[in-house]
Amino acid sequence: MFTRVVEAGASLTITVDGRKIAAREGDTVAAALLAAGIVASRTTPVGGAARAPYCLMGVCFDCLVTIDGVGSRQGCLVAVREGMKVETQKGRREAGR
Ligand code: FES
Repeated sequence: MFTRVVEAGASLTITVDGRKIAAREGDTVAAALLAAGIVASRTTPVGGAARAPYCLMGVCFDCLVTIDGVGSRQGCLVAVREGMKVETQKGRREAGR
C-alpha cells in the first residue's frame, strides 16, 4: 500500500513487536512501520479501535507507539535508529512507561 518515492539512506534494522524490519536512515518510526506494511500503530483506550498514522506531522496523535520502553511517543516525530525497539501501543499508556 505504501511505497517509497526514492530509496535513499542507509538500511537500518529495527524491531517492532519482536519482529525485525528494515528501515531507512532518515525515516520516522511511523514511515518505517507504514513501509513495512504495519498500518495500525495503536488501539484506542476506550473502544479498542485500531488507529494508523494520519497527519505524519505531529498533530493527530494517531501514531502513538512505545519506543525503547517509553510509551505514547509520536512515531511520526522520531527518527529511526539502528536497533531501536518499537511496540505498537494497545490502549492506554502503561504506568511507568
Ligand atoms: S501521525 Fe499524526 S501525530 Fe503522528
